[in-house]
Order: sequence, then C-alpha cells, then structure tokens
Amino acid sequence: MKTASSHGSKENLPIELLSWDEAYYKAEKIVSRMSLKQKVDITTGTGWQKGLCVGNTFGTKKPNFPSLCLQDAPLGVSFADNVTAGVSGMNAAASFDKKAIYARAEYMGKEFRGKGVNVYLGPYINMIRVPEGGRNWEGGTEDPYLMGIVAAETVKGIQDQGVIASAKHFILNEQELNRNSSSSNIDARTLHEIYLWPFARVIEAGIGSIMCSFNKVNGTYACENDYLLNTILRKELGFRGFVCSDWFATTSTGAVKSGLDMNMPGEISLENYDTYFGHNLIKAAESKNVPEDRITDMANRIVTTWFKMRQDQNFPDTALNAFHMEYAPFKNVQENHKELVRELGAASNVLLKNTKNVLPLDLNKVKTAAIIGSDAGPNTNSLNCFLNGCTGGTLMEGWGSGTVYFPYAVDPLAGLTKAFGNKINIKSTLNDWDLQKAVEIARGADYAFVFSNSNSGEEIISVEDTMGDRNNLSLWHNGDKLINAVADVNNNTIVVIHSVGPVLMPWINHPNITAVLWPGLPGQESGNSLADVVTGKVNPSGRLPYTIGKNYIDYNAHINTSDAIEYSEKLLVGYKWFDSANIEPLFPFGYGLSYTKFDYRDLRVGVNASVRHSSTGSKTITDVTVITTIYVLNSGSVDGAEIVQAYLSFPDSTESPPKHLRGFEKAFLRRGEEKNILFELNKSELSIWDTFSNRWKIPSGNFTIHIGASSRDIREIMTFTI
Ligand code: BGC
Repeated sequence: MKTASSHGSKENLPIELLSWDEAYYKAEKIVSRMSLKQKVDITTGTGWQKGLCVGNTFGTKKPNFPSLCLQDAPLGVSFADNVTAGVSGMNAAASFDKKAIYARAEYMGKEFRGKGVNVYLGPYINMIRVPEGGRNWEGGTEDPYLMGIVAAETVKGIQDQGVIASAKHFILNEQELNRNSSSSNIDARTLHEIYLWPFARVIEAGIGSIMCSFNKVNGTYACENDYLLNTILRKELGFRGFVCSDWFATTSTGAVKSGLDMNMPGEISLENYDTYFGHNLIKAAESKNVPEDRITDMANRIVTTWFKMRQDQNFPDTALNAFHMEYAPFKNVQENHKELVRELGAASNVLLKNTKNVLPLDLNKVKTAAIIGSDAGPNTNSLNCFLNGCTGGTLMEGWGSGTVYFPYAVDPLAGLTKAFGNKINIKSTLNDWDLQKAVEIARGADYAFVFSNSNSGEEIISVEDTMGDRNNLSLWHNGDKLINAVADVNNNTIVVIHSVGPVLMPWINHPNITAVLWPGLPGQESGNSLADVVTGKVNPSGRLPYTIGKNYIDYNAHINTSDAIEYSEKLLVGYKWFDSANIEPLFPFGYGLSYTKFDYRDLRVGVNASVRHSSTGSKTITDVTVITTIYVLNSGSVDGAEIVQAYLSFPDSTESPPKHLRGFEKAFLRRGEEKNILFELNKSELSIWDTFSNRWKIPSGNFTIHIGASSRDIREIMTFTI
C-alpha cells in the first residue's frame, strides 16, 4: 500500500486511493458479517425522491455501512445551491487539453465531495453517432480515442478526490428516441473499436462504477445482458467495481445473474412501486433462483469501491436535498472554480472563420459594435428552470439530468460590455424576429456580433417541440435569417453559435461574415470567456470534437424511429465516414483557427516490436511501441497553443476506415518558439478487434502516421511496417 496522505480533519485533501486488492481485503471483512438482507439492502435504491440525492442506497447497522448518495450531473452538482455550473463535456473534448480536463474534473470532484456525494453520475461517454442525439453535449465527440482521453482524465480528477465515478450509459445509448424500448444492434468489431473504447479506458483509469443503459443491445436489455456485463466488463476488461442501473432501467430480478450490482432508484417504474431488488431479491436467493454468492459479490463490489476511494475516512455528510433544495444545509463549495470555468470556456472556444484577421478586436480602433440575437442576452424566463428545460436567452447548457443550476451567469452581452469598457460603444437588440431592428442597429456599427443557438437534451422534458433529440440541424429562433439580415448590411459580421452539436451554416460564405466562433456550452462564465477570445486575451486553441457537414444528407446516421437501431455504418462514424466517402466537410473534425500560425517539420517514426515465433513458423506480434516526433514552430506574430494531432491508418488488409485519431498534444508556443512534440503509440492504439480470435490484435503490414492540425489538414505523413 502507498502511504496514505494525512487526512486530518480537512475534507478536501487529495486522497491516496487504495488498490483494488487492498480495498477488497477490507470489504470482505465487513460483507462476510452481513446477513442476506443487509447485503441486498446496500444494493437496493431507497426509491425515487426518497432520500437526499437522486439515488440513495439503504445503509446497514452492525456491521455498519452507510447509505450512499448518487448524484448527477456530468458537469457539476445537480439540484444544489452554491455549486459551480461549468462547461459541458463537449467543451472539455473541444479543449483537446488533457491538463485542463483533469483540472475540471478535480474541481468538480471537490464540489461533489464537499456536498457529501459518494457517487458522481458521470462521465457521459456515449458517442456522437447521430448529430441530432439529444445528449451529445454531455459527453461530446464522435471519436472514441478523444472520448477515451476525456473520460479517463475526468475519472482520475473525480476519483482523486475520493468520489466514485459512474461512467454512463453502458452501452449504445446514442439517441433519446425510444431509449426504453429500442435495441441497438451491432457487430463485435464496431462495438469494440468505437463504443467500448472509452469504457475500456475508464476501467484502466480505475473507475469505480459503470451505469448500464435503458436500451437493449442485440435484443437483450443492457442491464441484464450477460455478454455485456459479465463477458465484456468483467472478463475482458477486468472491471472490479459495480454496475449500477440507469434510473428504472432494471428489467428483472434475474438481471443480477447477468452482472447487475445496484438497482436505481429502487422501484420498478414510476407507476409500479414494487422493486426487482429488495424483498424480491431476498426471495430469489432463498428459493435458490439467484445464488447467494452472487449477492455477496454484489455487496463486495460496492463496499470494495467505497474503501478504494477512502470513503471510510472523513467523508463529509451529505449537504444536499435534491427534491427539497430549500431544506439543504448551507454549504458553499464553489471556491475559486469560476476562474477555471472561465479559462476552460475560452480554451474550448473554436474559431471557425477569421478572414482578414478581423479577430481579435483592436479595442483602440473599433468604436462601435452591435450585439444582436436573444442568444447574447440573459435568460428571459428565470436563471434556473427545472432541469434547464426552458429557452430564452443565451444557451449555456442543454436540458435534462445532465444540468446544474446556475449560481449566476455572465451572458455574452454582459461579458463583452465589461470587456469593451468605455472604448467601444455598444448597441443591442435581443429580439430574433425583428429583422428590421437588427438591420438598423447593425448598419451603423463598425462590427456586428450576431448570436444564435441550437438546443437539445434528455427525453424526460420536451422543449419547443423538441423531445430530446434535435428535429433538425438548423439554428433555432430564426437564426439563419437573422444572421443573413445582419450580414447583408454590415461587412464585419461576427457570428457566434452556442450549440449542442453541429449546425448547418447556409450563410457561411457570405462575404460580410468575417468571423465565426463556436463556444459550445460554456456554463456560468460564458460572456467572460467569450470576451477573452474576442479581445485576444486568450488566443483560441479549441478544436471541433465533431464534423460539421455542408448538408444534412452528408451525415450517414440520423435518429432512427424504429425499435431496431442498426449500427450498420459500422466503423464509419463521424470523420471516418466523411473520409471514406470522400465528402468534403464544411469544417472537419479537429479543426479550429488560431491568431497565430504553426509550421511543422521533420517527422520521425521509430518502431520497436516484440514478436513471438511459434514452432510451426508463424509469428505473432505481442507488443509494439511506435514513437513519433515532429517539430512545431509558432511562426506567427503572437503566442499561442497548437493542438498537434496524430492519425493512424492501418494496413489495407484490416479493412479499416482511412484514418483514426491516435494522439494529440496541446503545445503552448511563444512567438518564434519551436518544440519537438512526441507521440507514443502502444498496443491499444495499434490494434484492431479481430473477430476471428475474439481479441485485440496488432495487424502486420504497412501503417501510415499522419500528423497535422486537423483531420483534413495533414502536414506530414510517414509509413512504417510492422
Ligand atoms: C439519466 C441518467 C441519470 C439518471 C439520474 C436518467 O434519466 O439517463 O443519466 O444519471 O437519470 O438522474
């Protein structure tokens, strides 16, 4: 065991986690003293809205084990006051910044711990398979490698604070429509190479819990799917934590035999107050329909995870009351986290267009600016409405369980006004429909900022006829017309889009639209982080975590309205499809501009392979390390960060998509500075799923490494052979 850090009486000291074996050793001692009922109790939810958190388990006495508090959301503590409303998971992905992603998770971990939450219900790691997917923004990318890094850094940051993370939703829950009844049907290779990839990475990062999803997979509900929970999670990936159901996603008592360990929130459904666990699970054990050993294993997994995160030591009392927030004790956990939110908001802002270097604005030259569109202004309903399921004002989060209430919010108009001070005279209109007024204001201004958005969320709430998934990829609230009207009269039009994913941009080539920014969903510091980029305080380095197509039909997968969702595009998800079908995107995956310029040179690749020769003369590659280095120079006129991206092509014989992201580094370079950037690719990055042998295999043949600034801006290429 590593030396435990001194916990003292402080709640927020970094925790030295136990290893799984150390934790199991402690857990077994307690669980072996538990009765059948006690073991069942700690696996069973107390019931919907029965407890302080969105999910609560029963505790036990003699031996003592506490009731656990499980709480959303992936971007901050939900249903709570005095917490931080940070940037979305999609923004974390857009930052392509491992350190910043960890720092975000670390501060969230502190807030969850401070509020006495045992289990953080995140990260969200389903993929952007269909651009309209209602919850895409909670996680945020079409690329499994990027999702894997975001997820693993998030899990480390959260769990280093002693809070258990529960990655969700396992698995293939990529759309909201029919999520409770549909079956996502998939082949083993696609499952492994795309959708399972990020789950594998969080297990490597030591995640404590995984939440199984509502939907079926190949005909069997995910929460009672023996292949998924036992074969894949336990045997293949060596997962030692516990599987928790999504809310009301348990479909039978027998699910425990397939690997379900915890039932949330407790009842069968909102209408049926009985439970598949609790007394029914006890009965099943007594009648030998479920072996008691399995229930012991479930209890062991939960208690082990709790010990692993050191929740036996100085864990704060729960300071939340999710369904009666007015009764929650006062506890402010915000510290200075707003500074990180502001930084990450700026670091994830993607500059899509910047002709004539219109941005950053020179505050000494610009005299007047127009700010137009409801998305620039404060929420017109109230700052917080139930699960953020209302519109009006700037978009800072989507809606549903993935949201948190805002302590305050700096909208773009407020942020820009503050940053412009008395140097720029601002006129604004927040009405999207009054084009005449917009034109009037835009006409006289040196610069016209026009804002618009596109929103989505979880299917539990419907907003403006949107049941969760988006109905289309267009801007909401007259956005396209507003943008065109403004651009027609102002030759320095700057478009700002807050959106939950890609939107169509029919106005993109309008000659008067000189700049376009995508700040995603930036949370409470929205206006300040936008102003930091607009004024050049921060040089943008955000990159698109998804492909923006020119047309709706350019995407190969959309919301499926039937109950059988065939993942028939297989590996061709996102840019892999655009690459293989030779479709030119409007803005490719990994794309984003900077205020400076970067040059690449001198790509080198070194391969180190271990090969096993069998007695029959065949050879198997057992391990490989590929080291790639490249020099990147900031040849522009200001300091800035480049996101250097490494893509890999597999040998032709593997029938893989043209290229796969397999590394990225955010390199901060002063003006004129050059750095050597290194990528190390190992077995995980170099393997494909071999359906014949049912395992990961490093194929032999010619590989190509592509290094560049986006998936379509490849600067240097080199081929190597394994
Ligand atoms: C969502 C989960 C969430 C749970 C608890 C479900 O509807 O799918 O992501 O963690 O509710 O709020």
